Amino acid sequence: MTEAFDAVDVIRTKRDRGRLSPAQIDWVVDAYTRGVVAEEQMAALAMAIFLNGMDRAEIARWTTAMIASGERMDFSGLARPTADKHSTGGVGDKITLPLAPLVAVFGVAVPQLSGRGLGHTGGTLDKLEAIPGWRAALTNAEVMAQLAEVGAVICAAGSGLAPADKKLYALRDTTATVESIPLIASSIMSKKIAEGTGSLVLDVKVGSGAFMKDLARARELAETMVALGTDAGVATVALLTEMSTPLGRTVGNALEVRESVEVLAGGGPPDVVELTVALAREMLAAAGQPDADPAAALADGRAMDVWRAMIAAQDGDPDAPLPVAEHTEDVRADADGVLTGLDAYRVGLASWRLGAGRARKEDPVQAVAGIELHAKPGEPVRAGQPLMTLHTATPERFARAREALAGAVAIEPGAAPEAGGVILDRVAP
Ligand code: URA
Repeated sequence: MTEAFDAVDVIRTKRDRGRLSPAQIDWVVDAYTRGVVAEEQMAALAMAIFLNGMDRAEIARWTTAMIASGERMDFSGLARPTADKHSTGGVGDKITLPLAPLVAVFGVAVPQLSGRGLGHTGGTLDKLEAIPGWRAALTNAEVMAQLAEVGAVICAAGSGLAPADKKLYALRDTTATVESIPLIASSIMSKKIAEGTGSLVLDVKVGSGAFMKDLARARELAETMVALGTDAGVATVALLTEMSTPLGRTVGNALEVRESVEVLAGGGPPDVVELTVALAREMLAAAGQPDADPAAALADGRAMDVWRAMIAAQDGDPDAPLPVAEHTEDVRADADGVLTGLDAYRVGLASWRLGAGRARKEDPVQAVAGIELHAKPGEPVRAGQPLMTLHTATPERFARAREALAGAVAIEPGAAPEAGGVILDRVAP
């Protein structure tokens, strides 16, 4: 086959701050997926994009080309509307677990095709695999059947969706080109548009535990993704949410499932409940139900009923005890005062070092590893009081986890500052 372009010319265009033409973009994404553009060439192009950016039209075309690299799912045969949520990833972010069954209570189907954790952020599938028997891999037919019967499914995204992104994301991970707005936006939205959801709510995290450390960059990412979704016919909105401190009071797989079940039972930490209800409202409004009351469905057990059916449909036992770590150690406060900082990135890194996350995608994770937080920013603490409990199956990991936590905690004298909410802003088309 004669190739339409030369990869070196495409790289040179972006290196010299030019615009890539639609034909160049279609070709380079397709040729990379076919293995004609070499890894080192795509690495150079990704770095040129990282440094010089892409305009909205280039990003839209790049996204379309990644969608075209694989299959598209189609939920139009379902009797229910579909709504999905995507989070850009954070520490202690277990929101998908209570959210999917909560939205399904209202007759909206939630196809939540999820991933595993890499680096300091956890993965939804790793969390659910802490439940004895639960199975992540479903066929497309099983996904459809579960959506029709239960209304919610959380499972592994098949390898057929946006294969160009799978290759490119792995390359970006090893070439310091992850934190680029055009590349993140096209990566996330190609998968979500290919998945075929009717509406989409994006949870764009801001702070030390997120890709986007400041609000202005997070807003730009959110606006880019909302425009891509809207142009593709998917009703898309975004919330910008706080990720400078972990969400809730647990980080780690089984610990986060336990906390999610508390939320489904009508309890749980206020920040997790606030975000779950806010995202549910957005998903329900986008699916045509602006007056639904998700807070009531959490409080009265309807969301728990769907959770139990959803777990059982994937061979999990919702009544089985969750695994518990054999080894624990406390981290204690070194002064009296108010906890003014608890750094999300460092807590995520410590949890990862305890065994909750993986360094390479083929590594196993420990279901039991993680961190329980006994105090959150704004709360008073006394010297010697446990601030956190570290959990692991392998106690030789405690020392490295404690190193990760150096500087993670700030305690200051004086009165507690006004606690801010978890939702910072909303971006709509
Ligand atoms: N999540 C993705 O799927 N892609 C990115 O580029 C970043 C986060």
